[in-house]
Amino acid sequence: MVEKVHVRTTLNGEPTEFLVYPYQSLLETLREVIGLTGTKEGCNDGNCGACTVQVDDRIVDSCLVLGVEVEGKKVTTVEGLATPAGLHPLQQAFLEEASLQCGICTPGFLVASKALLDREPKADEHRIRHWLAGNLCRCTGYDKIIRAVQKVGATSKPARATAAQATAKRRPAGARK
Ligand code: FES
Ligand code: FES
Repeated sequence: MVEKVHVRTTLNGEPTEFLVYPYQSLLETLREVIGLTGTKEGCNDGNCGACTVQVDDRIVDSCLVLGVEVEGKKVTTVEGLATPAGLHPLQQAFLEEASLQCGICTPGFLVASKALLDREPKADEHRIRHWLAGNLCRCTGYDKIIRAVQKVGATSKPARATAAQATAKRRPAGARK
């Protein structure tokens, strides 16, 4: 009989512990074990990016990562973007630019975009489109999403990224390391 595994992680800045079966994905863990339903399930096979979360300094498709794999790591989901002071600038820009319709893709775009701007605040349109190539949207046509990310980048402060982060590349689905 398969037993649950005790996992300790830092989730959206808070020390978090949970029990999860070793075969459960991080996506399932977040939504069904922990109860954070902001991260969305689209394809569940690494093709759409709706389930994008950040694990340490990398973005991943949480449907392709096991919940037990985040032991000792920092996980950031869309719930970790806003603060008591208000929405994250990207969330505000998505609203202002009408960058969402059904919203299924939105949490993934927000987490992925934040990861890019944390590394490269002045990323240009080409770079943003390349970075977000793993996130699919069936509603907006992408232009409004790109515009919102550019808007935040244009008003952001100088790069806070470390040298290691600055050289980090987004890789294809599965592990976008
Ligand atoms: Fe589509 Fe994970 S749900 S990539
Ligand atoms: Fe519907 Fe992007 S807003 S899939």
